[in-house]
Amino acid sequence: MLVTFDDILTADELAAVRSQLSRAPWSTGLSAGPQAMLAKKNQQLPEDYAGLPDLRRLVMRALNRSPLLLSAALPHKVVPPNFNRYTPEHSHYGWHTDSTLRYLPDGSVLRTDISATLFLSDPEAYEGGELCIEDTYGQHPVKLSAGSLVIYPSGSIHEVRPVTHGERLACYLFMQSAVKDTECRRQLYEMDQALMDLRQRCGEGDPALVRLTGLYNNLVRRWSEC
Ligand code: NI
Repeated sequence: MLVTFDDILTADELAAVRSQLSRAPWSTGLSAGPQAMLAKKNQQLPEDYAGLPDLRRLVMRALNRSPLLLSAALPHKVVPPNFNRYTPEHSHYGWHTDSTLRYLPDGSVLRTDISATLFLSDPEAYEGGELCIEDTYGQHPVKLSAGSLVIYPSGSIHEVRPVTHGERLACYLFMQSAVKDTECRRQLYEMDQALMDLRQRCGEGDPALVRLTGLYNNLVRRWSEC
């Protein structure tokens, strides 16, 4: 399931992130496994960059504000977000899948169920640079407005197409969902959206809605692993 969320960052947050990134050092060749390393031609912020903790806090705060994102992802654990940069010199990230296990700074391990990209550059500011995600329905190029986010299953093969002009800044992160199975997660999201719609039309206290909400919660209880 590929889902997009508009305006995850406010205009002020976006300006703050861009200003910080304009002063940041960039490096090549971190963070990917051996196969992905062959495909990876972009740059990213080094892990020891002093500005990274504040940037991460800002993004995490913004993600946690979005009830739709929480409903679609049902996050259990999140790898601290990082930031990358594509220019004509460091232009693309060829077809790859994201590695399944990530080791967190606290020593715990996380299974990547969901990958996310938060677009930070205006789409007009660069040419190319689409994130292209393949599923059983074909290839889906994604290029969102600055401050908007896409999530997709970490197991899907994907690429960032070459940037031929300008600069593409983005933030990326991985989540372990409380519900491991992509199809179960998709059905829960669909059901939750229908429930939100019914709440608007019937009111929170409608007896059938109370029952359906209970069923939704019991499905989450049945399918979640945390
Ligand atoms: Ni990737």
